[in-house]
Amino acid sequence: ILCGFDVIHGYRTIFPIPLGQACSWNEALVAESCRIAARESRLSGVHWTFSPMVDVARDARWGRVGDTFGEDPYLVTQLGVAAVKGLQGADFTGEDYVIACAKHMAGGSQPVNGINGAPNDMSERTLREVFLPPFEKCVEAGIYTVMAAHNEYDGIPCHGSRFLLTDILRGEWGFDGFVVSDWMDIERMQDYHTTGATLRDVYSQTLDAGMDMHMHGPDFYYEVLGMVRDGVIPESRIEASVRPILAAKFRLGLFENPYVGEEKTRGTLFCEEHRATALDAARESIVLLENDGILPLDPAKYRRVLVTGPFADNQVQLGDWAFRQPEENVTTVWEGLQAVSPETQFTLCDLGWNIRNITPEQVRGAVRQAAGKDLAIVVVGENSLRYHWKEKTCGENSDRYDISLYGEQEPLIRALHATGIPVVVVMTNGRPLSTEWVSENVAALIEAWEPGSLGGQAVAEVLYGKVNPSGKMPISVPRHSGQIPVYYNHKFTHHWFPYATGKSSPLYEFGYGLSYSTFEYSDLKVEKCDGGVVVSFAVRNTGGMDAAEVAQVYVGDVEASVPRPAKELKGYEKIFLKKGEQKRVEVMLTDE
Ligand code: BGC
Repeated sequence: ILCGFDVIHGYRTIFPIPLGQACSWNEALVAESCRIAARESRLSGVHWTFSPMVDVARDARWGRVGDTFGEDPYLVTQLGVAAVKGLQGADFTGEDYVIACAKHMAGGSQPVNGINGAPNDMSERTLREVFLPPFEKCVEAGIYTVMAAHNEYDGIPCHGSRFLLTDILRGEWGFDGFVVSDWMDIERMQDYHTTGATLRDVYSQTLDAGMDMHMHGPDFYYEVLGMVRDGVIPESRIEASVRPILAAKFRLGLFENPYVGEEKTRGTLFCEEHRATALDAARESIVLLENDGILPLDPAKYRRVLVTGPFADNQVQLGDWAFRQPEENVTTVWEGLQAVSPETQFTLCDLGWNIRNITPEQVRGAVRQAAGKDLAIVVVGENSLRYHWKEKTCGENSDRYDISLYGEQEPLIRALHATGIPVVVVMTNGRPLSTEWVSENVAALIEAWEPGSLGGQAVAEVLYGKVNPSGKMPISVPRHSGQIPVYYNHKFTHHWFPYATGKSSPLYEFGYGLSYSTFEYSDLKVEKCDGGVVVSFAVRNTGGMDAAEVAQVYVGDVEASVPRPAKELKGYEKIFLKKGEQKRVEVMLTDE
């Protein structure tokens, strides 16, 4: 048996969600986090993970934005390929690696209405320029499986699309692994897409398209067997699908030993080395969005601190696809603060994790507790935990038409702000949230995404300046959901006229993120080289703290036969600079 499992951002050691990991722009760290996830899950009996998700996110209403590496095809590609290398190693043999799966092919991350599985109706140009490159590069990197998408593309359900699953995937890119269906999506061709009257109709459509494995259930097996017996499909069609699946099982050694030894997981799951990487990943995933100078916090100035909000002290910070973990394996913001600043007198006003039912009375209670405090730290955001399926507001199948802070969360922040004490807001959330008032009014705003097992420790370290934040947004944040689609690599005409009653610029742009330091860029050179050009420049840390900076290189076409995006990311480098230090950065832009 080949066991597949959604190891999306960790198995027992939970890393930040992919969107958070993407803020690090650190390919080595993403690869290492994936290697650890592969090792922990493989030792536990998992052979295959349905990850990385290399969908390019273009609609913040879609609840699965947090599963992606963001909105930019280049960044998604680089991190997707890093993930494949971390998960599969050279060829997923041995005890440390699993088979990776690039999903979902293709285009489901720009659904109409922002609803999971809804159709998209994009041009083939957009499909090929924006949505397909990450898949192509994962195939080039040796990914062994690909999952089809829920949605239809150009009027054809992706599970029945020969164009996507055979012509492009195998024909153009030479993919030689196997294609798996998404959860019951072949049956959905009959029920939802209505492209077939019977199961046999849709099974036949998916086989024609190039599907190799059905997830899940016995109907497919019996029906396909019947189709072979009836002479509707040749045995050779079955062999073509079975061959790469069996090859994977041989490579994994499942015919020699299908079992795992439980004893091997001891000392490995959530071990010190894994925790250290999860902490680093959380630190690098945090984006400082606003700071009026209050951060890093001075414990001598802010002695009595109120900590409140729904996500200050629970497991919601683990994000979608994570299951309940032993309490001692999760460091919440509340716990992190006490560990990082023991001299501060913290008071917790816990509002419970369920943002659907926080009451105005609870808000008034928090305000009462703010009396006599020097500062309030408010942890707000969204809940993506799948074991809170009915209560969550984000994650798979939890899409929203309004992406502001849900329920009483903004009233809570406003009420605390009205008391006159400084308010620092920390967000733990799985999708961009439109927080215009908060951004303009609070003393500091931190985007922590869903930072995983050690997330609370990382947040506290950033608040108290033990870590200088370096995360950069991998996605644009709309001011309002009415602005969607918002993405930085748009055509000039996308923002031709400003809105009559509000700004058309995003609240935060792709690539944005503050530091406790400042940087100076100088001495830009662009020189021809073999196969492209080399862009080089100097970056100096002009602030008072050691810092990391992500130097980003964008290109734009001055003139072209078709309209091109205003700018497109084509290279970057993350550099570490001591205070006062200068480094020269070189980024090669290939002709491609
Ligand atoms: C999701 C996939 C996931 C699968 C298996 C589906 O609902 O779309 O991303 O891998 O379930 O859990």
